[in-house]
Parts: sequence; C-alpha cells; structure tokens
Amino acid sequence: MPLVTSKEMFQKAYEGGYAIGAFNVNNMEIIQGITEAAKEVNAPLILQVSAGARKYAKHTYLMKLVEAAIEDTGLPICLHLDHGENFDICKACIDGGFTSVMIDGSHHSFEKNIEVTRQVVEYAHAHGVVVEGELGRLAGVEDDVNVSAEDSSYTDPEQVEEFVKATGVDSLAIAIGTSHGAFKFKPGQKPQLRFDILDEVSRRLPGFPIVLHGASSVIPEYVNLINANGGALEDAIGIPEDMLRQAARLSVCKINIDSDLRLAMTAGVRSYLTANPAHFDPRQYLKPGRELIHELVKNKIVNVLGSDGKA
Ligand code: G3H
Ligand code: 13P
Ligand code: ZN
Repeated sequence: MPLVTSKEMFQKAYEGGYAIGAFNVNNMEIIQGITEAAKEVNAPLILQVSAGARKYAKHTYLMKLVEAAIEDTGLPICLHLDHGENFDICKACIDGGFTSVMIDGSHHSFEKNIEVTRQVVEYAHAHGVVVEGELGRLAGVEDDVNVSAEDSSYTDPEQVEEFVKATGVDSLAIAIGTSHGAFKFKPGQKPQLRFDILDEVSRRLPGFPIVLHGASSVIPEYVNLINANGGALEDAIGIPEDMLRQAARLSVCKINIDSDLRLAMTAGVRSYLTANPAHFDPRQYLKPGRELIHELVKNKIVNVLGSDGKA
C-alpha cells in the first residue's frame, strides 16, 4: 500500500467521534515502536516529521523508514510535515513524497498567514497533497523557538470561517490551552482547555477537521522512571487524558504527540543503563525505549484517541 493522505481518515474520524494519532518520528526505533503498536490494535496513523527531524535524520532516511513500516505493517499511514515554516520546506516535502504538510503561519498577521497558507495549498493540491493551517499561537518550545505563555494566544473563532474559505486548507490547528513540551502548566496550576472555543469553532465549521498540537499528557509513569534514574524533570505536567478523549469525541480529528514519545524512550534507556552500567551495545538500551514507545502508543490509541480497529 502506498502512503495515503489524511482526507479519508479525518472524514471517518469526524463521523465516528475519534481522533487519529499524529506521532513525531526521528529514527528507526521510534517508527518501529509506533507502527508495531498501531498494527497490534489495527489503527490508522499519521507519522509527522519536523524541520529538526529532517535535519537530524535526513529526508530520504525518514521516507524510506516510513515506507518500510508500511511494508511491514500494511497499515494506512499518512506522512506529514510538522510546523512547516515557509513555502520552500512545504514544497520540498511535497516534491519528496510526503502526503500532507502543515504550513504554520501562526506567527504572522492574519492577512500574511492567509497569503502564505494559500500559496502552499495551491501547490499541494495540484500534487494531491493535503494541508493543515494554524490560527492562534501555542506556548512552549517548537524547533528551538520558545514561545512564552504571554506571547501565546487562543484562536479567535470569529476568524476561522474566513481563514478556511480564503486558504482552502484541509484541516485547522487551533490554540485552546495546549502547549508544546513537557512543562505545560505551572506546579499547582489546574490544567484547563477552552472547550468553549472548540465548540464555537466547530459550530462555525461544521464537519471540518480540527487539530490539537501540544497534546502530550506527560505520563507520570515515564517521568517518574526518568527521575528515579538520574533525570531531573520534577515539574513536568501535561494535558489530562480525559480532556483529550473529550476533544477526540468532538471535532478534533488529529492529536499531536511528541513529548510523550521522548519521555517513554528516555525512561526506557535511562532505566536500562542504570540497571546495567557495564553495557554499551545500543541495541540493548534502545530496545527498552522502543518497547515503552510501543506500550505508550497502544494505550493512547485504545484509551485516548479511540482509533483502534479503524485501519
Ligand atoms: O511541535 C514541535 C515538535 O515537538 C517537534 O519538535 O522541532 O524539536 O523536532 P522538534
Ligand atoms: P507535545 O510537545 O505536547 O508532544 O506536542 C507535539 C506537537 O504538537 C508536534 O507538533
Ligand atoms: Zn506542534
């Protein structure tokens, strides 16, 4: 089976009240951990690649690894560019075989965001590729750019119809209180998402797929394993799983997860090396990292996304 776009996945997810997991990938062990878990529970997948991941692993390696995962699992997989910052990187990914790109114009003015997004949509659609746009600005760390809570802003529902109509995007990422990274709320702060904004956006865009970035739950089990094995992530806090489950039942069709994968991998590697300080074969310590990613992704699909059995 070739790579697929997210078009049909989103349509079924919207109608079925579940969401597709969009997992960030950087290397073979991460791709295997995710895709083998999805295979076990028969879930469709979006694998996404950031500019940093493309720089780290090279476009060709990631492309071939994802093709290998499709051959190995037979799953419908969409390969997506995460946070494309301009037309050139989106074009490079479209030309290089990706089936979906995000143009992140959220740091621009509304007018400029429409202009750059529309340019990407025109090129992408002419090549059979779908496009995610973004309105509103998340806090947290993205590709070495740190957006402070003060500089973040919720999506203004009054802008969404004009944005979608003027750009032709296939899905829209919105800001309702999620943020990138492992420190989403301050200690003692009650995690909250603006479901009122999501409701108003959905009312204005009936049937249209919404995307949530910064949606890791920062699973305490993995944070505790890291901290028990020499790590220092005491104040890590994420989005409660019940809120994500609720969003998946509504119009949210794509839920982005990266930090939870990083934490699972690091927890596996750190605990292995603490228990086996004389070992130095990467296969030995990467294997438990891959196993924890497998466990994490399976739990997400079954308990949070609801995409099991939908491949
Ligand atoms: O939203 C950002 C993703 O977690 C990707 O992170 O740019 O460090 O690869 P990265
Ligand atoms: P997290 O940092 O919450 O995993 O978010 C990832 C993300 O939004 C990738 O685009
Ligand atoms: Zn993101």
